[in-house]
Amino acid sequence: MRILGIETSCDETALALLEAEGGLKSPKFKIVKAFVSSQIKIHAPFGGVVPNLAKREHIKNLPLLEKKLFGTGASAKKMWGSIDLIAVTVGPGLEPALWTGITFAEELSKKHDIPLIGTNHLEGHLWSFLLPHPEVKRPMLSQVFPAIGLIVSGGHTNLLLMKDLTHWKNLGETRDDAVGEAFDKVARMLKLPYPGGPEIQKLALSGDKKAIKFPQPMKHDANYDFSFSGLKTSVLYYLRDNKRAKKADVAASFQEAATEVLAHKTFKALEKYKAKSVILAGGVAANKMMREKLEVGAKAKNKKFFVPEFHHNTDNAVMIAVAGYITKLRKKKYPMKANGLLGV
Ligand code: KG4
Ligand code: ZN
Repeated sequence: MRILGIETSCDETALALLEAEGGLKSPKFKIVKAFVSSQIKIHAPFGGVVPNLAKREHIKNLPLLEKKLFGTGASAKKMWGSIDLIAVTVGPGLEPALWTGITFAEELSKKHDIPLIGTNHLEGHLWSFLLPHPEVKRPMLSQVFPAIGLIVSGGHTNLLLMKDLTHWKNLGETRDDAVGEAFDKVARMLKLPYPGGPEIQKLALSGDKKAIKFPQPMKHDANYDFSFSGLKTSVLYYLRDNKRAKKADVAASFQEAATEVLAHKTFKALEKYKAKSVILAGGVAANKMMREKLEVGAKAKNKKFFVPEFHHNTDNAVMIAVAGYITKLRKKKYPMKANGLLGV
């Protein structure tokens, strides 16, 4: 099956063509083409994503990416003839942004007479570990589940107990800021550009992660929830009271505290539920320290660790095509309307 994926939930406009085969026990994917048009430069002066600007950019970018993906004339017509399904993100995200993708997908579906399916952006992140990886052999799913899934993005922090690819229980989530949001806010305090996650990681390379003992909120609480607002405030007070603080030390110590608390609770769940593996997903999964902590910890416990290839962690449309395929296989139907608060 050939699937066109469309993603517009936040500040990346993305289109991808994916080939998918196999059932829910052994789905296989091949990426044909994928494009992401980032709006970082447009939102950077505002220190965060401005929904109406995102909407305007998506409307401008979608037809450009379509042309890039399909070309024009006879070859475009032939390529459209080969598409079996269009998958689009319906949530969560910024509703004005989501609607641009949905409207565009509906028009294409009608024009080319191709079925359309709505997908959950978070499920797209979660299932991205199934994508081919140049160095790591993709796993047999019988060796993966039960698994602990950790979704860490700009809007979400969720810990899941996954029975299989499509059945899970939400063990815990953040009670305030998402971890990616905390990275972005701390970056802003350090006067680093948006988005802050990659900037903090870069700056932290020249810092000492043990220099400052920032709190690791809720680390030892008897639940699987998280809280990052207090950590963020501690950084704010530290910078206020230590005007000559070395920024690299602040970045490294913050990154250490944020990733440590996530890793700790992931491993606690891994042991408690006797899971076979850890699956890491979402934009913050691009963080090297986060990946390393989970990988090293999981392997030390003789468990497996899965994470998508680096560039498939942040928002893209390949993951939406994957989500489209699995959503179709499991016969789930999301209403074709923007749902900013859709969860997992
Ligand atoms: O999944 P994503 O691209 O968009 C959402 O669905 O939210 O995640 C974006 C988040 C941003 O907060 C960004 O700062 C963070 O992921 N991020 C990182 C890194 N790369 C992206 N955080 C820490 N380290 C990184 N290397
Ligand atoms: Zn995302």
